[in-house]
Amino acid sequence: MRYLNLKDGQSVPLLGQGTWHMGERQDQRVREVTALREGLELGMSLIDTAEMYAEGGAERVVGEAIGGRREQVFLVSKAYPWHAGRDSLPKACEDSLRRLGTDYLDLYLLHWRGEYPLAETLEAFERLREQGKIRRWGVSNFDLDDLQELDAPDCAANQVLYNPEARGIEFDLLPWQRRQGLPLMAYCPVGQGSRLLEHPALLEVARRQDATPAQVALAWVLRGDGVIAIPKAVDPLHLKQNAAAADLRLSAEDMATLDQAFPAPTRKRPLAMI
Ligand SMILES: NC(=O)c1ccc[n+]([C@@H]2O[C@H](COP(=O)([O-])OP(=O)(O)OC[C@H]3O[C@@H](n4cnc5c(N)ncnc54)[C@H](OP(=O)(O)O)[C@@H]3O)[C@@H](O)[C@H]2O)c1
Repeated sequence: MRYLNLKDGQSVPLLGQGTWHMGERQDQRVREVTALREGLELGMSLIDTAEMYAEGGAERVVGEAIGGRREQVFLVSKAYPWHAGRDSLPKACEDSLRRLGTDYLDLYLLHWRGEYPLAETLEAFERLREQGKIRRWGVSNFDLDDLQELDAPDCAANQVLYNPEARGIEFDLLPWQRRQGLPLMAYCPVGQGSRLLEHPALLEVARRQDATPAQVALAWVLRGDGVIAIPKAVDPLHLKQNAAAADLRLSAEDMATLDQAFPAPTRKRPLAMI
């Protein structure tokens, strides 16, 4: 596994585990818990979840998976924007902690920007940090103008959509975050496992590298500094492939193939979101 250091020096793996759609079906629970534990064994010790996923169901699955191994995990959860107020954020955090069976989060994110003034949300995050309920806080789905308005050196990460089909952030957001030393967490890094993985360019590079298209997508997302990818996988083979993608290095020829199929942005694009 490869790692990066957050601004406060905390080391985190470049590959973590997403949990969207976990906790939706009781008959999948054992598979999901087993997958998260397997992912931890493989070094993907950052787990990303949210109160939104299965309305708390994903956090319960994560809670079961990390039981007895909390200290091995860098645990990330997210609050709904309508829970980002001075009274609602502490309650949302308590509810997440209870479902996760822990007394602290390593990182607590605002899932996307809503109606609460940013200053109020920041104050609420800071209070949770002082109380030891969260170690650090960050944001998600923030574009450059949002981050500039936030103007908060203590923000630990911004989580946004990033994969070869969604490169808009390379125009301004990603370079700005790199200059600020603000890590970017890439969600949907394998395009939700759908048609991106059937694209001829990914298939061509995968053949050349003796890898899978998903591994190529992950290696591509992780090719520069300051980016963490959080693929979600329940299939044990997917988990193994994803963990191994940290060691895959794309060649100049691979990059040229992918650049031709998925051109880099030449102008500002609205932030892509799912
Ligand atoms: N902040 C936000 O607004 C936001 C939005 C979306 C997502 N997220 C976070 O980011 C995480 C990742 O995004 P995502 O789950 O939407 O999409 P994703 O990770 O790009 O794709 C997940 C899908 O890809 C499949 N997959 C995983 N590894 C694979 C591999 N090696 N080969 C082939 N297929 C593979 C999975 O199948 P199996 O499960 O069957 O293995 C699953 O169906 C989420 O789970 C969530 O934690 C955050």
